[in-house]
Amino acid sequence: MHKKNILLIGGLGFIGSCFVNLFRTKYNFQILDTNYFQQTMDNDIQTTIKDIRNIELNDFHNIDFVVHMGELSNDPLGEFDKDVTKKINQEGTKKIFEMAQKSNIKKFIYMSSASIYGFSKEIMYETSLPNPLTEYAISKVENENFILENTFPFETIILRNATAFGYSTNLRLDLVVNDLTFNGYFNKQIKLISDGQPKRPIVHIYDISNAIDMIISDERNLDKEIFNIGSNNMNFSIKQIAETIGNTLNLEDISFGEFDSDQRSYEVNFDKFTKYFSNFSIRYDLKNGVEHLIAHLAGYELNGNEKRINSIKELVSDGKLNSELFWND
Ligand SMILES: NC(=O)c1ccc[n+]([C@@H]2O[C@H](COP(=O)([O-])OP(=O)(O)OC[C@H]3O[C@@H](n4cnc5c(N)ncnc54)[C@H](O)[C@@H]3O)[C@@H](O)[C@H]2O)c1
Repeated sequence: MHKKNILLIGGLGFIGSCFVNLFRTKYNFQILDTNYFQQTMDNDIQTTIKDIRNIELNDFHNIDFVVHMGELSNDPLGEFDKDVTKKINQEGTKKIFEMAQKSNIKKFIYMSSASIYGFSKEIMYETSLPNPLTEYAISKVENENFILENTFPFETIILRNATAFGYSTNLRLDLVVNDLTFNGYFNKQIKLISDGQPKRPIVHIYDISNAIDMIISDERNLDKEIFNIGSNNMNFSIKQIAETIGNTLNLEDISFGEFDSDQRSYEVNFDKFTKYFSNFSIRYDLKNGVEHLIAHLAGYELNGNEKRINSIKELVSDGKLNSELFWND
């Protein structure tokens, strides 16, 4: 059978590296990524080092499906330079669509985020009104609207992913579960400055990858569908996350602060995806996902790219990236 050709934009990142490792025999991957976080290239996977702002029609040659996960990927990065965030996340994404429209692709999967729900006391559904509180979340809402308001000659599917966690060959430690697990494992303590009350749904990167695979493989018309990706059982407060990690690591030293400056707090309903994809089930809950991560942390050496904002700031101050976040030659 013809292997599907996937253009995986941002495929060198945390989630992309996991997705490629899981499905490298099933799909022909073509990665396009500017490689901000200096991931070692895999010789078996065709990789183009390119900024999405410079994407060309050629990059879609023979491509059946596009999965777009190549944007500035969290709140601190989004706030770093709001103008550049717009240029990358919004204008860059529009440029991808402009080129994709001239190509022969069948489906376009866009990685949005549950952080568009921002703050809410009610459970948030795909039909709920977004409440983006940060530049990052605003860029996701703007892109969703752009996708929903325009007609394309291919299907577009939007994934509102919960906060991801898990081990990847391009590890992130600026995500709550990974950060707390790393500190718990190496420093034998979990110390939160905040009171840990805000709620955040979490999802393992294996499960995000499986959801993407199921959408690619599906024959139904899913045009303009939005899916929350995660599990109803994994809406946790930060405190619950810290305690589960502490128990898994047998830690006695877990402390919380007085208040929370991070106002984002939301609980999400994830039924729609399992209604559409009855075979989907979560492989990693918090406890076994943390155990899996811990198993990979022994001997892990920090490379300086695990906290995305620190990495970008350093590249700019070293003159490797210019103020528009393009590589200097
Ligand atoms: N990790 C999460 O918790 C989470 C949750 C919800 C949604 N998402 C979304 O999923 C996607 C992937 O997230 P991730 O955790 O793998 O992030 P990541 O930062 O690890 O990966 C993003 C990748 O995109 C590339 N990239 C960034 N700007 C680019 C540009 N201008 N041109 C070309 N490539 C560029 C980076 O080099 C990097 O390899 C992002 O869009 C993110 O917003 C992530």
